[in-house]
Amino acid sequence: MDPNALIPPESPIGYPMPFWLIEILKVFGFSLHVMMMNIWYAGAILAAGFGLLGRGNARLVGHHIARALPFVIALGINFGIVPLLFIQAAYYQFFYPATILMAWPWFAVFWLVIMAYTGAYLYRLMILGKVKPWAGKAGGWIAGLVFIAVGFIFANAMSLLTHVDGWWNLFTRTSVAGASTGLALNFSDASLIPRWFFMFGIALTTTAVFVIIDAAFMSGRENEDYRRYAGRFSAVLYTVGLLWFVGFGSWYIFGTRSEAFPTALADPVMRIIFPLTAISPGLPWLLLVFQWKQPSRKLAALAGVAQFGLITLNAVSRQWLQNVELAPYANLASKPMDLQLSALIIFLLLFAGGISIAWWMIAKIVHVHRQEFVGKKHHS
Ligand code: HEM
Repeated sequence: MDPNALIPPESPIGYPMPFWLIEILKVFGFSLHVMMMNIWYAGAILAAGFGLLGRGNARLVGHHIARALPFVIALGINFGIVPLLFIQAAYYQFFYPATILMAWPWFAVFWLVIMAYTGAYLYRLMILGKVKPWAGKAGGWIAGLVFIAVGFIFANAMSLLTHVDGWWNLFTRTSVAGASTGLALNFSDASLIPRWFFMFGIALTTTAVFVIIDAAFMSGRENEDYRRYAGRFSAVLYTVGLLWFVGFGSWYIFGTRSEAFPTALADPVMRIIFPLTAISPGLPWLLLVFQWKQPSRKLAALAGVAQFGLITLNAVSRQWLQNVELAPYANLASKPMDLQLSALIIFLLLFAGGISIAWWMIAKIVHVHRQEFVGKKHHS
């Protein structure tokens, strides 16, 4: 079967905005999604683990992560809608067949997210003493494990989107009387497992950065001993995430996408971006190591900015790779466009407004905790 025969026809409507703008907004929206998603992806399971096994400061680190989860999840899910919108605007010929083949797992994301979100709330309420420990702990574990399962479904969807050669095989294996059952998973694609674990490695590093930012800016109620512990914890966690990033990143790129590196080196822009992506965890890691003895607000904020740089570089590289993988099937950049200016302006205004409100809310939270910190110093 010629894989091209399975690709749906091009939409006669055309893109609503230039392709380059779709790419920028998709990558930027995805970077915002990842920055938040990482904290619940790795953070929820860590918080659940520390709730069960941790003592003293270790347990407290878990509580601090859990305290942020309801807010972080709400922001990250909203940011996720942005890349989802642009994937559907430009990659629909690949996105829809892939997610129809795996329709049930894909649809399950909706229910799984509700379940995990509730679990994260239960855990938080347990810390506040408002639900019984068994319910809170169960909620924490459900949240941690379900989020990892959701990440697996996303890794499936995104890898299946470009695995056009595998579609027919998957369809014949999972169809009944010519109709897809929607039960396919992309296991025949060797990149699935390293891709899934690779993002979890990035999530470990982002969670480490969150811990130091929380210690430096939002732990006014804790003592110096906790803040020093959180600084060391965050450096160790980042180191684990870094090794994970290198291990699974190498497996993913060199083991399953061996043509990616030479192709990137042949492209004048990617020749810079690709190697930068590979070394990008170096800077935030150094900034955390410098805070081994004592978290510093300046260095913690810089680590946050450097981590966003890592995430954005990674988003640009994977966007480039997605386009390279789809290049044999479609020239996405050269499709017709019918500019819909009014819709675009409304989108941009609402997007900017949404980001400003999110920023304002974060600033308020930091301010409240800073007040607590100052107030406490005053008292003692
Ligand atoms: C709440 C649990 C969620 C988790 C654990 C999660 C995790 C992930 C992961 C691991 C990826 C990368 C997959 C890969 O390429 O290998 C991803 C991508 C993505 N996520 Fe999320 N996500 C969650 C929720 C959401 C929600 C609710 C939305 C939409 C509203 C969303 C939108 C997206 C989109 C669009 C991508 C692909 C972006 C692109 O390739 O440009 N996610 N997510």
